[in-house]
Amino acid sequence: MDAQALKDSWRLVARSGDQVPLFFYSALFLANPETRDLFQVSMASQRDRLVGALGHIVSNVDRVEELVPFLQQLGRDHRKFAVVTEHYPAVGRALLATLEHFLGERWTPALAHDWAQAYGLVAQVMADAAADAAKTSPPWWDAEIISHEQRALGIAVIRARPNYKYPYRPGQSASVSYALRPRVWRYYSFANAPRQDNTIDLHVRMVDGGVLSSALVMGARRGDVLRVGAPVGERLAISADITGDLLLIAGGTGLAPLKALVEQVMYEGPTRRVDLVVGARTSREFYDLEALSKMAAEHPWLTVVPAVSHDRFYRGTRGNAVDVALQAWRGQHVFVCGSEEMAQSTVGRLLDAGVPHEQIHFDEFTSDKGGES
Ligand SMILES: Cc1cc2nc3c(=O)[nH]c(=O)nc-3n(C[C@H](O)[C@H](O)[C@H](O)COP(=O)(O)OP(=O)(O)OC[C@H]3O[C@@H](n4cnc5c(N)ncnc54)[C@H](O)[C@@H]3O)c2cc1C
Ligand code: HEM
Repeated sequence: MDAQALKDSWRLVARSGDQVPLFFYSALFLANPETRDLFQVSMASQRDRLVGALGHIVSNVDRVEELVPFLQQLGRDHRKFAVVTEHYPAVGRALLATLEHFLGERWTPALAHDWAQAYGLVAQVMADAAADAAKTSPPWWDAEIISHEQRALGIAVIRARPNYKYPYRPGQSASVSYALRPRVWRYYSFANAPRQDNTIDLHVRMVDGGVLSSALVMGARRGDVLRVGAPVGERLAISADITGDLLLIAGGTGLAPLKALVEQVMYEGPTRRVDLVVGARTSREFYDLEALSKMAAEHPWLTVVPAVSHDRFYRGTRGNAVDVALQAWRGQHVFVCGSEEMAQSTVGRLLDAGVPHEQIHFDEFTSDKGGES
């Protein structure tokens, strides 16, 4: 397979922007009308969630071995969209038709063969993982909201109880959907380590014009039911080889998975020190300080430092979370979570300050998940 030809041809096709998903979905829905029901009613804001990721992932088939865990998670997770094995060839045909349309005479038999092979390989990994998962877990969990607290500046802390045992690891996320916005799925991170009572906490920040976050923050109520997909994400795991102290840097609701890591250390029995720096522009954005301060007061191995970057009059620690954190860096592994911008700039600063690459673990709240590949 000529992997470079796949990448080059996808780059060419992607230049046609929104025309690409428009063509892809027309081809898919025309040939397989039953697939229309899997997608949102309004596709306008949505068009590129699948197609961009599809082209990007398939054209990276030369890294397929490295991508296997991600593709398996994606395949397991696709069951929540009601995707079944029979849909894979349909999507493959629509993808090939799209490529043929946009590549014109550059669409040679050899290239067509390579794309078909690459798609087949990726689809097989996803479909096999989905079939395996179907033996042991539901396509999604229904989780009843048992408490919903609106906290600072459009941030809600939601506690929900899935209807079956929900297995996940601290640091992971899952995509969530809510009846007010049918078939809209977005990722949220678990803010707690798994509990005996199976409850999960989510920290949701309302994004301007955001379809799901606004419904979850403003519309959701106690008693409502969320759909929760399979847990995903490996980036923020405290793996067995991470033995020493930890330095955690949170931006906004990026606190959620890091709080789950603090709880993991707490449940495992504290064998390490944890320094958590929670960054915000102004102190009004701190939405969980009460709980964090309580944890720090109860556990001497834990230090929590709230850091404010944009308020000259703030009486506590001022500065960017990363600058404050670097003052506490003594060679620990560093975990970072926040918006894409926060995570990227924080990682850049850490590297500049000499923190070794392999000691930096980060996740970012992007608006799509295809980027994980
Ligand atoms: C692995 C992962 C874990 C996540 N965990 C959390 C979490 O624990 N808590 C949380 O609040 N969010 C989290 N997010 C972000 C979340 O998935 C949504 O992207 C966010 O809630 C916006 O969704 P929406 O439907 O309201 O906005 P959309 O309707 O998708 O987007 C509306 C507009 O806002 C922009 N936008 C989308 N997301 C963001 C963002 N995060 N910041 C700024 N602008 C944005 C879009 O580009 C678009 O212009 C996570 C994302 C990922 C990938
Ligand atoms: C190689 C095969 C495939 C790959 C690599 C792939 C990849 C992806 C990715 C990365 C996303 C975004 C993930 C998310 O936001 O949760 C996505 C979304 C989606 N995929 Fe797939 N996918 C594949 C096959 C399929 C098939 C066969 C179907 C069935 C028709 C399908 C239906 C969907 C739907 C409904 C969405 C949600 C789109 C939305 O939010 O509007 N996918 N896919």
